[in-house]
Amino acid sequence: MPKPHHVPAAELPPGAVRPAGPWAVVNADGRLSAVSRRCRHQLADLSEGSLDADGCLVCPWHQARYDLHTGEMVSGPRGFLGYHGPTPGYTGLVKRLGQVVRLRVRRAHRQGTDVVVD
Ligand code: FES
Repeated sequence: MPKPHHVPAAELPPGAVRPAGPWAVVNADGRLSAVSRRCRHQLADLSEGSLDADGCLVCPWHQARYDLHTGEMVSGPRGFLGYHGPTPGYTGLVKRLGQVVRLRVRRAHRQGTDVVVD
């Protein structure tokens, strides 16, 4: 039986996002969770993202924002490819797509010295 995806708990303090296999594991003020790693916009690695003040996961490339409970994109990207800036119509279009094609969501829990994705 394969070992579950995990990250050392010491590497996941509150506010941190870390990779574990295909998952971005998040510690949002002690609430542990995991979402699939590829942004629905242009596939950036969400384990390199960050948490904002609302507890949303922010993509490192164009700052699309995701709800960690539903995996839904709640704010669309601000740019595309190498461009970073306002793209009003495009942003809304990608957001609507990200509301339908959500990130996969898993629970995560502390197990010994690790955080394990369920
Ligand atoms: S790749 Fe994530 S917002 Fe563009």
